[in-house]
Amino acid sequence: MSFEEMWRDLAPVGRYDATGGYRRYTLGAAELECRAWFREEAAKRGLTLETDRNGNLWAWWGDPAAGDAVVTGSHLDSVPDGGAFDGPLGVVSAFAAVDLLRSEGFVPRRPIAVTAFAEEEGARFGIACLGSRLLAGAISAEKAAGLTDAAGVRFGDVMAEAGFDPGPDPALMAKIGVYIELHVEQGRGLIDIGRSVAVGEAIWPHGRWRLDFTGEANHAGTTRLEDRRDPMLTYANTVLAARKKAAQGSAVATIGKLVCEPNGTNAVPSRVTAWLDARAPKETDLHAVVAEIERASAERAARDETGFAMVNESYTGDTPFDPVLRDRLALLLNNAPVLGTGAGHDAGVLSVAGVPTAMLFVRNPTGVSHSPAEYAEIPDCLEGVIALADVLRELAA
Ligand code: GLV
Ligand code: MN
Ligand code: MN
Repeated sequence: MSFEEMWRDLAPVGRYDATGGYRRYTLGAAELECRAWFREEAAKRGLTLETDRNGNLWAWWGDPAAGDAVVTGSHLDSVPDGGAFDGPLGVVSAFAAVDLLRSEGFVPRRPIAVTAFAEEEGARFGIACLGSRLLAGAISAEKAAGLTDAAGVRFGDVMAEAGFDPGPDPALMAKIGVYIELHVEQGRGLIDIGRSVAVGEAIWPHGRWRLDFTGEANHAGTTRLEDRRDPMLTYANTVLAARKKAAQGSAVATIGKLVCEPNGTNAVPSRVTAWLDARAPKETDLHAVVAEIERASAERAARDETGFAMVNESYTGDTPFDPVLRDRLALLLNNAPVLGTGAGHDAGVLSVAGVPTAMLFVRNPTGVSHSPAEYAEIPDCLEGVIALADVLRELAA
C-alpha cells in the first residue's frame, strides 16, 4: 500500500461534491468509514490494533507493554467542509513511514505506534482535541460526557453506545515515550523558502468562548425599530468589535459559527448563540483582547436592551514543543526551518501533559486550511514521509 494508494482510498470518504469539502464528524458515517480504513491498514501490516476508552485508534508495531513508545499520527475527523489534508496527512504518512522503515529491514528497539485521535476538531461536540484531552486527563470525564452536538445528543451517550467509557488513561499515557505529529502546514510559512518540510516550534495560546445574546422575538413588519430588543444587532456589533480588538491587540479572533432562533426571515430573533475562537502568540495579549471583546459586547447589549453572556468552553495556554527534540529533529532534517503555528493539535495537548512532542509541517502551496482549498503536492507529501521515517528511525533505533 503506497502513500498514493492509501490517499486514493481515503479521498472519497465524507467528501461533499457540492463544495469539494469534507464532513467527517466523530462517530458519524464518514468518520466510521475512516476508522474502518485505519483498521484495515493496521491489519494489512500485521500491526496490533487497539481502540482506547476514548475512541482513539492505535496500531502497534512491537509490544506496547514494553513502553517508551515512539508514537506518530494525527486525526481523521474534519471541520465542516474541511480540506483533505488536515489530520489524514499525518495518519497516512505514519503508515507510509512504517512501510519505508520496514522495506529497509529496520528493527525498532522501542515500540512504534500509529495513532488517530478522536474529535480533534471539536466539530461535533465543540471542544477541540477531545480524545487526547480525555486520554491525558486534561478534561474531566463528567464535563466531556455532558457536551452535546447540534442535535442535542450527548457525547457520553454517543460514546457509550459505541462501546467506549471516556476518561483518563494514565496507563496508556505512560507508554508514550515521544509523540511526533506530521501535519499539513496551515499558513504560508513554507511557500517562499524553497523547503517542503518544517519542524514545529510552539502552538499559540488559544480558546473558544460561547456568546449568548438574548432578546425578544417580534414581527419584522409591525415592530417599530425603537421597540425592538434585537440580539442580532448586538451579535453583529460583537463581530466588528472582535475584528477591531484583535487587530489592535496582536491577536486573531473569529466568529465562524452561529445559531439564530427562531431563524425566521420575518421575525426579530429571540436568541443568537455564536462562538468566538481567539488566539495570539502571547497569552497576555489573548486575555486582554478577549476581555476587550467582552466589554464591548456588554456595552452594546446595554444599549440594545438585550442580554449578553460569555462563557469559556475550552482554553489552551502557551504550548512550546520540547526544545531539545525540536533542535535535534531540525538538525536531522537538513536544518529544517522551525515554524510556530496558530492552529491547535493533539500534539499540543500531549506536550502540555509532559510528553516530549514534536511536529513536522508539510508545505501547503495555497496557504489555506479548514477549507477545500487546503493542499499539498504529492512530491512534498512523499518528502514528508521520508522526513517522518528519518525521525522514527532516529528515535526508535
Ligand atoms: C484545529 O485545527 C484548530 O486549530 O482549531
Ligand atoms: Mn484542523
Ligand atoms: Mn489537524
